[in-house]
Order: sequence, then structure tokens, then C-alpha cells
Amino acid sequence: MQRNAHSEWLYRLYAPVYDLAMRTQFARARARAIELLELQPGERVLLPGVGTGLDLELLPADVRVSAADLSPAMMQRARARGRRGAVMFEIMDAMALAFGTGVFDAVLLSLIVSVVPDGRAAFAEAWRVLRPGGRLVIFDKFLPEGRPLTPLRRAVGGVIAWLGTDPNRRLSDVVTPETLAAIEVDEPSLLGGQYRIVRLRKPVADRPAAEMASSGVSLNPSCDFHKRLPRSCVALMRPDDK
Ligand SMILES: C[S@@+](CC[C@H](N)C(=O)[O-])C[C@H]1O[C@@H](n2cnc3c(N)ncnc32)[C@H](O)[C@@H]1O
Repeated sequence: MQRNAHSEWLYRLYAPVYDLAMRTQFARARARAIELLELQPGERVLLPGVGTGLDLELLPADVRVSAADLSPAMMQRARARGRRGAVMFEIMDAMALAFGTGVFDAVLLSLIVSVVPDGRAAFAEAWRVLRPGGRLVIFDKFLPEGRPLTPLRRAVGGVIAWLGTDPNRRLSDVVTPETLAAIEVDEPSLLGGQYRIVRLRKPVADRPAAEMASSGVSLNPSCDFHKRLPRSCVALMRPDDK
């Protein structure tokens, strides 16, 4: 995919300086995102788009970590970082994960759904490889749901996206409608809440994804998704609730 090639080229350039820019000011938010994963000893956790591995050093030593990234230059730094506990590194597209369905207990999407060409595809893949009952945490920046995409914002956003990250993506552009009801936590984080930390838990058998998909669950535009995404916002939009 052409956009992936551009991204790989960009992150080859960024790799040597990435930690300088991204380490300190994101540290607390990273720690919170990892706390929300609620990792238990022996669990399997996946980090798609692991980058230079700034999250790796915050993970508990007693979990089994798989780390994927498109950029060999970024991943080389992640490998060199070292961590207490083993990590399996693989060059892999976050939008087409080479893992089986339901094999991970937890997935962390840290600053990746705004970077890949198709954030929804990356989310869908992370959701697929998660086991029922597993946790998926997204840490990223999102355009508030109600904010209009003006021509100026679109133009500026296009330039920023070319530089590696799309500031005009909404959470609803990423999280598939049938998984909205799985959102348990939606916290504002950095830059006055432009960055958010969202946790979803994959339903176990009592509410299969197919049933949710056919229920017509969708976003309620009257809810303030920038601040929180309460369950009521999701439940409201079931057809029989209208
Ligand atoms: C902003 S960095 C985030 C890195 C890391 N997750 C962090 O929190 O610091 C985005 C990372 O996504 C990687 N990336 C971009 N497109 C990708 C894709 N399609 N599949 C996997 N990784 C990708 C880049 O190489 C880069 O390492």
C-alpha cells in the first residue's frame, strides 16, 4: 500500500529523534493506558505500532509481549531498549495482523490509529485478535465528534497527516459501530482532552458481536464524545430505544 510506504519512509526519518520528542510529556498518559489494560501475570499482550518501544518499559515483567511495527528503524530501537521479560518483535502491518483470532488477552493501540492510513482497519484487526473478555486500550488524539471539519481544518489536517499523524480522525471513525457498547472507559488525557484513553472489553458469549451488529447500535450525535462516552450514549441509539 502506497500510504504505508510513505509512513515507513517518514518513521525512518523520525526514528533517531522520536524519543526526544515523545518520551517525557507522554509518560504519565502511557502509564495510565497500561494501567487500564489490567494485565495479569502470564497474559499475552499485543502492541501494534510499537515504535521505539516507549510502552515496553512500562509493562509488567510477567506478561508475554508481542510487538509489531511497519518500520524496521523504529523497531530496531524497541529491540535495543530491552525490558524485563521476553518480547516477540515482528515487522507487520497493524491493518493486517498475522495472528489468529482471539489469541491475545489485551491489546494496546498507542498513537497508532491516527497514523495508519485506515484507523478503522487497525482497530478491527486489534479487536479480532483479542479474546472474548479481553481488553483493548486506545491512547490517541481525536477530533471531538461534534466539531465540524471546516475547509481550513481539513487543509491543515492534510498537511499534518502527511507528516505522519491525522489530527482530524474521530473516535467514531475508528471504533466500529458494533463495538461501541464495549467501551468501558473514555478519559480525557493530554492537551485539554484532545488526547484520550479509551478502554473496550470484548464481550463474552452472552452478547455476540453479530447480535450487536444487527441491533443497529450507532453513535448518538447529541452526546459529548469529547468528554466521555457513557454507556447511555450507546444504548440510546438502539432502534427499539428511539
Ligand atoms: C506515532 S508512532 C507511535 C509509536 C508507539 N506506539 C508510541 O506510542 O510511541 C507510530 C508508529 O506506527 C508505525 N506504523 C505506521 N504505520 C503502520 C502500519 N501500517 N502498521 C504498523 N505500524 C505502523 C510507525 O512506524 C511508528 O512506529
